[in-house]
Amino acid sequence: MAVPLPDSVDYVLLDEDTIQQRVQALADQISADYAGIHHEDFILVGVLKGSFIFLADLARRLTVPHRVDFIALSSYAAGTEAGGTVRLIMDTRTDLTEHHVLIVEDIIDSGHTLDYLQRLFQTRHPASLRSCVLLSKPDRREIEFQVDYLGFEIPDVWVVGYGLDYADRFRTLPYIAALKPSVYS
Ligand code: IMP
Ligand code: MG
Repeated sequence: MAVPLPDSVDYVLLDEDTIQQRVQALADQISADYAGIHHEDFILVGVLKGSFIFLADLARRLTVPHRVDFIALSSYAAGTEAGGTVRLIMDTRTDLTEHHVLIVEDIIDSGHTLDYLQRLFQTRHPASLRSCVLLSKPDRREIEFQVDYLGFEIPDVWVVGYGLDYADRFRTLPYIAALKPSVYS
Protein backbone atom coordinates (compact mmCIF):
# COMPACT_ATOMS: atom_id res chain seq x y z
CA MET A 1 0.00 0.00 0.00
CA ALA A 2 1.41 3.40 -0.96
CA VAL A 3 2.36 5.65 1.94
CA PRO A 4 0.75 9.08 1.45
CA LEU A 5 3.10 11.97 0.73
CA PRO A 6 3.53 14.58 3.48
CA ASP A 7 1.42 17.70 2.88
CA SER A 8 4.47 19.85 2.12
CA VAL A 9 5.65 17.55 -0.66
CA ASP A 10 4.76 18.49 -4.22
CA TYR A 11 5.90 15.39 -6.15
CA VAL A 12 8.47 12.58 -6.01
CA LEU A 13 11.45 13.37 -8.21
CA LEU A 14 13.51 10.21 -7.61
CA ASP A 15 11.94 7.09 -6.12
CA GLU A 16 13.69 4.56 -3.91
CA ASP A 17 14.51 2.10 -6.71
CA THR A 18 15.91 4.79 -8.98
CA ILE A 19 18.14 6.10 -6.17
CA GLN A 20 19.36 2.64 -5.14
CA GLN A 21 20.22 1.65 -8.72
CA ARG A 22 22.24 4.82 -9.21
CA VAL A 23 24.01 4.43 -5.84
CA GLN A 24 24.97 0.88 -6.84
CA ALA A 25 26.38 2.14 -10.15
CA LEU A 26 28.38 4.84 -8.35
CA ALA A 27 29.70 2.26 -5.86
CA ASP A 28 30.72 -0.06 -8.71
CA GLN A 29 32.60 2.76 -10.44
CA ILE A 30 34.33 3.88 -7.24
CA SER A 31 35.23 0.28 -6.30
CA ALA A 32 36.83 -0.20 -9.72
CA ASP A 33 38.73 3.10 -9.56
CA TYR A 34 40.08 2.55 -6.03
CA ALA A 35 40.83 -1.17 -6.37
CA GLY A 36 44.11 -2.14 -4.76
CA ILE A 37 44.31 0.76 -2.33
CA HIS A 38 45.12 -0.21 1.27
CA HIS A 39 42.09 0.26 3.53
CA GLU A 40 44.01 2.51 5.91
CA ASP A 41 44.55 4.91 3.03
CA PHE A 42 41.06 5.31 1.54
CA ILE A 43 38.72 7.60 3.47
CA LEU A 44 35.18 8.66 2.69
CA VAL A 45 34.43 12.04 4.23
CA GLY A 46 30.70 12.67 4.53
CA VAL A 47 29.47 16.24 4.81
CA LEU A 48 26.97 16.42 7.69
CA LYS A 49 24.16 16.30 7.96
CA GLY A 50 22.73 15.93 4.46
CA SER A 51 25.00 13.11 3.25
CA PHE A 52 24.47 10.63 6.08
CA ILE A 53 21.99 8.33 4.33
CA PHE A 54 23.71 8.51 0.94
CA LEU A 55 27.06 7.75 2.56
CA ALA A 56 25.62 4.80 4.51
CA ASP A 57 24.17 3.23 1.36
CA LEU A 58 27.18 4.01 -0.84
CA ALA A 59 29.77 2.77 1.66
CA ARG A 60 27.97 -0.53 2.21
CA ARG A 61 28.00 -1.19 -1.54
CA LEU A 62 31.74 -0.56 -1.96
CA THR A 63 33.79 -3.69 -2.49
CA VAL A 64 37.05 -1.93 -1.61
CA PRO A 65 38.11 -1.49 2.02
CA HIS A 66 37.71 2.05 3.30
CA ARG A 67 37.34 4.18 6.37
CA VAL A 68 34.56 6.65 7.10
CA ASP A 69 34.81 10.10 8.63
CA PHE A 70 32.63 13.20 8.75
CA ILE A 71 32.88 16.95 8.59
CA ALA A 72 30.21 19.51 9.44
CA LEU A 73 29.85 22.83 7.69
CA SER A 74 27.36 25.60 7.77
CA SER A 75 26.68 27.83 4.82
CA TYR A 76 24.64 30.92 4.21
CA ALA A 77 22.19 30.60 1.34
CA ALA A 78 23.29 31.71 -2.09
CA GLY A 79 21.71 35.04 -3.00
CA THR A 80 21.75 36.35 0.58
CA GLU A 81 24.23 38.99 1.69
CA ALA A 82 26.56 36.41 3.19
CA GLY A 83 25.95 34.02 0.27
CA GLY A 84 28.93 31.85 -0.47
CA THR A 85 30.32 32.07 3.06
CA VAL A 86 31.06 28.61 4.45
CA ARG A 87 32.01 27.91 8.06
CA LEU A 88 33.69 24.83 9.51
CA ILE A 89 31.64 23.47 12.43
CA MET A 90 33.34 20.12 13.01
CA ASP A 91 36.54 18.83 11.45
CA THR A 92 37.43 15.23 10.55
CA ARG A 93 39.04 13.09 13.24
CA THR A 94 41.41 11.56 10.70
CA ASP A 95 44.56 13.28 9.50
CA LEU A 96 44.01 13.34 5.74
CA THR A 97 47.66 13.77 4.80
CA GLU A 98 48.81 11.13 2.27
CA HIS A 99 45.33 9.54 2.24
CA HIS A 100 43.02 8.99 -0.72
CA VAL A 101 40.10 11.21 0.22
CA LEU A 102 36.63 10.98 -1.32
CA ILE A 103 34.24 13.74 -0.26
CA VAL A 104 30.64 12.49 -0.11
CA GLU A 105 28.04 15.25 -0.39
CA ASP A 106 24.27 15.29 -0.84
CA ILE A 107 23.90 18.11 -3.35
CA ILE A 108 25.84 20.77 -5.23
CA ASP A 109 23.94 24.00 -5.65
CA SER A 110 25.97 27.23 -5.91
CA GLY A 111 29.20 25.21 -5.60
CA HIS A 112 30.60 27.23 -2.69
CA THR A 113 30.49 24.40 -0.13
CA LEU A 114 32.47 21.95 -2.26
CA ASP A 115 34.86 24.63 -3.42
CA TYR A 116 35.56 25.54 0.21
CA LEU A 117 36.06 21.88 1.18
CA GLN A 118 38.35 21.17 -1.73
CA ARG A 119 40.55 24.15 -0.87
CA LEU A 120 40.60 23.20 2.82
CA PHE A 121 41.52 19.57 2.15
CA GLN A 122 44.20 20.46 -0.43
CA THR A 123 46.11 22.27 2.33
CA ARG A 124 46.38 18.90 4.11
CA HIS A 125 48.20 17.28 1.18
CA PRO A 126 46.06 14.19 0.55
CA ALA A 127 47.41 11.52 -1.82
CA SER A 128 44.30 12.17 -3.94
CA LEU A 129 41.11 14.16 -3.55
CA ARG A 130 37.84 13.48 -5.36
CA SER A 131 34.15 14.13 -4.79
CA CYS A 132 31.02 12.00 -5.00
CA VAL A 133 27.81 14.01 -5.04
CA LEU A 134 24.31 12.58 -5.27
CA LEU A 135 22.53 15.58 -6.80
CA SER A 136 23.46 18.61 -8.84
CA LYS A 137 21.43 21.70 -9.74
CA PRO A 138 23.52 22.98 -12.67
CA ASP A 139 21.30 26.04 -13.20
CA ARG A 140 22.25 27.36 -9.76
CA ARG A 141 26.03 27.22 -10.06
CA GLU A 142 27.88 30.42 -9.03
CA ILE A 143 31.33 28.92 -9.01
CA GLU A 144 32.75 26.22 -11.27
CA PHE A 145 33.34 22.87 -9.61
CA GLN A 146 34.31 19.53 -11.15
CA VAL A 147 32.36 16.66 -9.51
CA ASP A 148 34.10 13.31 -10.06
CA TYR A 149 31.12 11.01 -9.35
CA LEU A 150 27.63 12.44 -9.82
CA GLY A 151 24.30 10.73 -9.14
CA PHE A 152 21.67 12.90 -10.85
CA GLU A 153 21.21 16.34 -12.35
CA ILE A 154 17.97 17.91 -11.15
CA PRO A 155 16.04 21.12 -11.92
CA ASP A 156 16.10 24.18 -9.69
CA VAL A 157 13.56 23.05 -7.09
CA TRP A 158 14.04 22.55 -3.33
CA VAL A 159 14.30 18.83 -2.69
CA VAL A 160 13.99 16.83 0.53
CA GLY A 161 14.37 13.22 1.61
CA TYR A 162 17.19 10.66 1.52
CA GLY A 163 19.16 12.88 3.92
CA LEU A 164 18.17 16.25 2.50
CA ASP A 165 16.12 18.60 4.62
CA TYR A 166 14.09 21.72 4.76
CA ALA A 167 14.55 23.37 8.20
CA ASP A 168 15.87 20.01 9.46
CA ARG A 169 12.70 18.15 8.45
CA PHE A 170 11.99 15.37 5.93
CA ARG A 171 15.52 13.85 6.04
CA THR A 172 14.32 10.28 6.46
CA LEU A 173 11.86 10.09 3.59
CA PRO A 174 13.05 7.11 1.48
CA TYR A 175 12.66 9.04 -1.80
CA ILE A 176 13.75 12.48 -3.03
CA ALA A 177 10.84 14.85 -3.45
CA ALA A 178 10.25 18.42 -4.52
CA LEU A 179 8.85 20.59 -1.76
CA LYS A 180 5.80 22.71 -2.54
CA PRO A 181 7.14 26.18 -3.45
CA SER A 182 4.63 27.70 -0.99
CA VAL A 183 6.61 26.04 1.86
CA TYR A 184 9.94 27.74 1.10
CA SER A 185 9.10 30.93 -0.79
P1 IMP B 1 26.16 25.09 -2.23
O1 IMP B 1 27.27 25.51 -1.33
O2 IMP B 1 25.31 26.26 -2.67
O3 IMP B 1 26.58 24.24 -3.39
O4 IMP B 1 25.12 24.31 -1.35
C1 IMP B 1 25.24 23.07 -0.96
C2 IMP B 1 24.40 22.84 0.27
O5 IMP B 1 23.13 23.52 0.24
C3 IMP B 1 24.09 21.40 0.34
O6 IMP B 1 25.05 20.70 1.05
C4 IMP B 1 22.74 21.39 1.05
O7 IMP B 1 22.96 21.36 2.43
C5 IMP B 1 22.10 22.68 0.71
N1 IMP B 1 21.07 22.54 -0.36
C6 IMP B 1 21.09 23.09 -1.59
N2 IMP B 1 19.99 22.79 -2.28
C7 IMP B 1 19.25 21.98 -1.48
C8 IMP B 1 17.95 21.33 -1.64
O8 IMP B 1 17.27 21.40 -2.68
N3 IMP B 1 17.53 20.60 -0.56
C9 IMP B 1 18.24 20.49 0.58
N4 IMP B 1 19.43 21.08 0.77
C10 IMP B 1 19.93 21.83 -0.25
MG1 MG C 1 24.94 19.78 2.73
